[in-house]
Amino acid sequence: MSRIAGTGRYLPARVLTNHDLERMVDTSDAWIVERTGIRERRIAADGEHTSDMAAAAAREALASAGLSARDLDLILVATVTPDMPLPATAMFVQQKIGARNDCPGFDLSAACAGFIYGLAVADQFVRGGAARHVLVVGVELLSRVLDWTDRSTCVLFGDGAGAVVVSPALGDGRGILSTTLYADGSLAPALCIPAGGSVEPATAATVAARRHFVRMEGSQIFKFAVRALAQATRTAIERAGVTPEEIEHVVPHQANLRILAAVAERCGIPWERFHLNIDRYGNTSSASVPIALDEAMREGRIRPGALVAMCALGGGIAWGGAVVRM
Ligand code: ACO
Repeated sequence: MSRIAGTGRYLPARVLTNHDLERMVDTSDAWIVERTGIRERRIAADGEHTSDMAAAAAREALASAGLSARDLDLILVATVTPDMPLPATAMFVQQKIGARNDCPGFDLSAACAGFIYGLAVADQFVRGGAARHVLVVGVELLSRVLDWTDRSTCVLFGDGAGAVVVSPALGDGRGILSTTLYADGSLAPALCIPAGGSVEPATAATVAARRHFVRMEGSQIFKFAVRALAQATRTAIERAGVTPEEIEHVVPHQANLRILAAVAERCGIPWERFHLNIDRYGNTSSASVPIALDEAMREGRIRPGALVAMCALGGGIAWGGAVVRM
């Protein structure tokens, strides 16, 4: 078995409030709060890169695990906003934290489910014995791929990074008890950045048509998300051999409070057990679960030994769940 040995996070200093957005697009604080639960989000500074935020979260996670970057055997960076299309952002993170050359790394693209996907991959590497210490970072610099004239998307997202170190379990019952991963590629067009890949390489026309920014059919994903997140969470709980009543904490992807309230009801887990920070950070995609996990651990709201369920869903559509005894 593997365990989460340490957690860390990084959030840029600049705060963008709903009232700031009221001055940018035709929206209102009341609409955003009522429809999503978001009040403010963080925006990276000019010159700050995805790998900078990832490295900052990674350093915190390593320190909390009592490890150095030289101890790492693998680096996984879950992101849809890499430093550049080539090479992997994991390469820049390796350099910035000072990991060894025989510590490989790669990026993992599963949008908001990226951290859960990364956790599942790290779990397999550690269980199988191919690695002892795996760094999993969820990081997004979404502010650079948002259309700041599109009120249906720009109010929802924020920048940030969260990280964990996955290491061998100590035999005390603490560890990653289950992970569940799912995907439904038929819904890919509902959330995508249409241009900038091989389908629509960058041209003056694609830039002028704003096709390098995030596009989302929010209400289509909303309906799917409630059902899928509840099912992934319930299955992860079942596979962990525990019951929903035993789950002490839920650390969910923070996309929409209304989605999460419906998931809580469907899973039969009291709302008070959900750890929420969507009001302060918005949707940080693959960073949202590890940011919320780190916050709850550092503030002592989740204690070592507690039973925690996690779930996330995003572009793809990709989604998944996990149950961890912290
Ligand atoms: N301010 C004011 N009005 C707005 C805004 C805004 N920012 N955005 C949309 N509206 C309007 C729409 O134009 C629409 O107006 P109309 O009725 O006159 O046409 C009305 O509000 C309702 O729009 P809906 O899209 O139906 O609103 P909904 O209640 O579905 O909320 C939201 C939209 C918040 C996006 C919701 O659908 C949602 O959270 N979806 C899921 C998002 C998600 O989970 N994505 C996956 C993760 S992201 C990732 O992977 C990167």
